[in-house]
Amino acid sequence: MCGIVGIIGRKDVAPLLIDGLRRLEYRGYDSAGIATLVNGSIDRRRAEGKIANLDARVREQPIDGTVGIGHTRWATHGRPNEANAHPHASARVAVVHNGIIENFQELKKELQDAGRAFESDTDTEVVVHLIHHHLDQGLPPVEAVQHSLKRLNGAFALGILIAGRHDLLIGARMGSPLAVGYGDGEMFLGSDALALAPLTQRIAYLDEGDMVVLTLEGATFYDADDQPVAREVRQTALSGALIGKGEHRHFMAKEIFEQPQVIGDTLNAMYNPAQGSITLPDLPFDLAAVPKVTIVACGTSYYAGLVAKYWIERLARVPVEIDVASEFRYRRPVLADGGLALFISQSGETADTLAALRHCKAEGQHTVAIVNSPESSMARESDAVLQTLAGPEIGVASTKAFTTQLTVLACFSIALARAKGAIDRKAEQALSGALAEVPGRAAEVLAHDERIRDIAQFVADARDVLYLGRGTSYAIALEGALKLKEISYIHAEGYAAGEMKHGPIALIDETVPVIVIAPDDEDELFEKTASNVQETVARGGKVVFFSDAHGVERMSETALYAIPMPTVNPFVAPILYAIPVQLLAYHTAVLKGTDVDQPRNLAKSVTVE
Ligand code: F6R
Repeated sequence: MCGIVGIIGRKDVAPLLIDGLRRLEYRGYDSAGIATLVNGSIDRRRAEGKIANLDARVREQPIDGTVGIGHTRWATHGRPNEANAHPHASARVAVVHNGIIENFQELKKELQDAGRAFESDTDTEVVVHLIHHHLDQGLPPVEAVQHSLKRLNGAFALGILIAGRHDLLIGARMGSPLAVGYGDGEMFLGSDALALAPLTQRIAYLDEGDMVVLTLEGATFYDADDQPVAREVRQTALSGALIGKGEHRHFMAKEIFEQPQVIGDTLNAMYNPAQGSITLPDLPFDLAAVPKVTIVACGTSYYAGLVAKYWIERLARVPVEIDVASEFRYRRPVLADGGLALFISQSGETADTLAALRHCKAEGQHTVAIVNSPESSMARESDAVLQTLAGPEIGVASTKAFTTQLTVLACFSIALARAKGAIDRKAEQALSGALAEVPGRAAEVLAHDERIRDIAQFVADARDVLYLGRGTSYAIALEGALKLKEISYIHAEGYAAGEMKHGPIALIDETVPVIVIAPDDEDELFEKTASNVQETVARGGKVVFFSDAHGVERMSETALYAIPMPTVNPFVAPILYAIPVQLLAYHTAVLKGTDVDQPRNLAKSVTVE
């Protein structure tokens, strides 16, 4: 959510800032801007919309300078127009900001009363004027920033430029991530290591409350009490090459088609084929003693957690509580003594999930983060990490992160069940063997791409779409509906199929496509779902049915479209059935002509509450 870059070097920084912003564009794309120091004075270029617009502006009006900051915005306060685009600046200070300054109204009033004039509707501009005010009072830049930071409430990562000081670039972090990159005679700031990958592989992260002062020679970190501190410099494995779309038109398509590979990579880190067993990385607590599991996440990651609730309770017979992070943290949840709290997040930076992790840690829970980014805040702050090996996910709608989360959670469920003695070796072999088949089966599912593209023609004309499923397929129905609404802007809802007659069936008529997720199973859920489908069809509903060959045959007369999925152990079905709903959303969005990879109003990494 909002991307920041900063560079202090020896050559013109504008092209490098724009390149860094391109890598961060997935974090927000409402507007963008850069500021540099030209002969000691702040110069800026800003543009509404995507980085391409900023790039065009800079080509028309080039900007030089060897120190600079850049920003790509996801609007919180103020419309996404040029006036509200970052960097915000006065004659003495320029600032880029990711996060929210919660007390900005009170500060703005105070600063306006002191005679300072504001140009934008943003919360960020108070930071500019606060620092300017302290500089005017005679404080040197570092102290002026330190004094200003003490006045801010909320979450922020900041990049700060001071007029007349081309030898200085300042960063600060409270709640939003910020990385420092070490170059050769040049230094960098970035929202994440991905932005800095082509510039350097040597990265240090600011801790909560840290400020950092960059010069050409290096970085000096200060903690929340303004004391100099050392922060570890690590080597990141990220490649500097700009991640491409390969033969695909969109990142989302590329990422959907990468799933057989990345599910396999993720599984290989935990699955021993010779033994037919699952081994988790070392955990600093005894799994066998865990009395309860609490799962917290947002959005798609939450739906992965919902599948895991079914898996864990069924296999390990351990109670699972699950909540979306924004609700969890404010409802004073009752946690079990010695309980395990699982946090699921692609980015590892989602503000609400991170806050929930900190809460659970403070309450003495064992904390495990399932993240795709091993250098993220959640990875660094949890007791243990189970990594999804999805690789960088650039499309804003999550796809391969979801199925790799499911893969990790499936392994975790088996390991917990074994540790608890709830399943025996034979069952472990059967379940992990079924998991090992998933990459190959996922490739078979992808072969239905063209058929699903045809179905998308029918869905693209709809105003409302319903997704139905039971058990773990209920979670996939919710995920399918989320995918469709976020990239095609068609209203969609996921329901537990059995809930239809308690209200939603009133929506059914011949204009509402009903997407049914119904793998064959051991619990008669298929039969129950099939009955719900008959009730829907009897009321004019047009059904798209995803099931295995047997289920498809059963529904061939009833469903408008039926797609035969591979016949698999029902345990792994949710991983495979996630794929057709991703494809359906993707093709519908393409037909509607939306911006598939960067849908309106969204951003990839939600670092504000
Ligand atoms: C939907 C989507 C979001 C994220 C959510 C959590 O396609 O991508 O719903 O799943 O914002 O993000 P992470 O997983 O980074 O915590």
